[in-house]
Amino acid sequence: MGLFSRNISVAAEPVKPSIPVGSPVEEQAPVLAPVVSPPRGAPGARASVLLPVTPVVRGEREIYFEKMKVRIHQQLVDRLDVQNLKTLPPDVVRQEVRGLIKELCQTEKGLLNSSDQERLMDDVMDETFGLGPLETLLKDSAITDILVNRFDRVYVERRGRLELSDVRFRDNQHLRQIIDRIVAIVGRRIDEVSPMADARLTDGSRVNAIIPPLALEGPAMSIRRFGAKPLQLEDLIRAGAFPACVMDFLAAAVQARCNVIISGGTGSGKTTLLNCLSRYIPAEERVITIEDAAELQLQQPHVVRLETRPANIEGKGEVNQRDLVKNCLRMRPDRVIIGECRSGETLDMLQAMNTGHDGSMTTVHANSPRDALGRIEVMVAMAGYDLPIRALRQQISSAVSVIVQAQRLTGGKRKVTRVSEITGMEGDQIQVQDIFAFEQTGVDENGMATGHFIVTGIRPKCLERIESRGISLPAELFLRKQIQA
Ligand SMILES: Nc1ncnc2c1ncn2[C@@H]1O[C@H](COP(=O)(O)OP(=O)(O)O)[C@@H](O)[C@H]1O
Ligand SMILES: [Mg+2]
Repeated sequence: MGLFSRNISVAAEPVKPSIPVGSPVEEQAPVLAPVVSPPRGAPGARASVLLPVTPVVRGEREIYFEKMKVRIHQQLVDRLDVQNLKTLPPDVVRQEVRGLIKELCQTEKGLLNSSDQERLMDDVMDETFGLGPLETLLKDSAITDILVNRFDRVYVERRGRLELSDVRFRDNQHLRQIIDRIVAIVGRRIDEVSPMADARLTDGSRVNAIIPPLALEGPAMSIRRFGAKPLQLEDLIRAGAFPACVMDFLAAAVQARCNVIISGGTGSGKTTLLNCLSRYIPAEERVITIEDAAELQLQQPHVVRLETRPANIEGKGEVNQRDLVKNCLRMRPDRVIIGECRSGETLDMLQAMNTGHDGSMTTVHANSPRDALGRIEVMVAMAGYDLPIRALRQQISSAVSVIVQAQRLTGGKRKVTRVSEITGMEGDQIQVQDIFAFEQTGVDENGMATGHFIVTGIRPKCLERIESRGISLPAELFLRKQIQA
């Protein structure tokens, strides 16, 4: 017996004599795309530029095409012999299925030109074997995020710019089917009882899905692409995120195993900076990374990546960052990198930094280096230890050496707005001094922040440590000056 029964019936719906071209049907035409800000910590979490979007216009031709696609897909599903399918190698199956779709298309002869037919075959293949409408977006390597707000509102981010794509799902049910398929890849389920799920695509991309009743307008999904090449230091310098001298200093600090904290808001570029700075970790050092949603892409050969695990459907089996930090200290790391400190793991990280794992790095969600120190105090308290404040600050000031502040400025440009150093304690206050800063002077005609970088003229205290490791930085690097941004 063949794979499919071959008596292909003619489409049930009466067919139209010709495909009408033009006569566009206009659907809700917003002038501006809404600012998309998924919840903090979600894979797609970041702020983005508000961009004007062209109204969504769907011609009748497109609507007709969509209907035909559904019909052909349905006929295909009716004919597939799933049991038999499972016994065959995947490429044979694909070939057979494609052949069958072609036959089905030909029963609609005269209605599709050959390029429409090719497109329809691709779409039905994506629907059958892949993630439906998402496949087209996943093939585009320039896309870093896919944000499905609603079945008919799919935003993509390319090179830091967010825009509405012309990809859409048929309806909420279609979107839901694709979400089910994605969460099934990681053996999870999403339903009214557990309406949120994290998953991962086979290429490593992180997915968060949330459905009604929690999502009010139908299922929503955020995909943070993996494999999209992260921005490199050179890209950041070229984009004006910071001047080269800032990088020289930070590179030396990382090499000399200073503990570095990157502070900033959601989408300010913290993870990107962390990734870039990690490049200066010598190749022979053993690095362990700990993340809630793995996105770091370290270049070193000696890296062990750990990721937390949420509780399963029965509420069991959760492994949080704290558990992972504790475990990782038994794995003999030279350096520990925590993607983002959010809670009690901060205490364990400080202890690690203070006990020989110097050169460790993490990011925190804060608006200035001072604010970052405050956040760290609060997060340590979340670990449940009641340390006297002075002792706690003592721990922080001896652990943390450099704080880098990342910020997304008016207009959307991301910059390093401060590089500060912790120099010790005075009374019960932690002493912080700025080495570099960005000073915003205004906003240009495009609504973009303008300003300059300032080298404060302060010679960092950690230079001693840097030089004692045989790394030399030119003295001019720290002479007071302004650098045009
Ligand atoms: N300096 C920069 N210029 C332009 N885009 C940037 C810059 N830094 C980061 N990005 C982009 O901004 C987005 C958010 O960056 P990310 O590092 O994930 O932020 P965070 O970790 O603070 O949430 C990513 O798409 C990243 O590629
Ligand atoms: Mg991040």
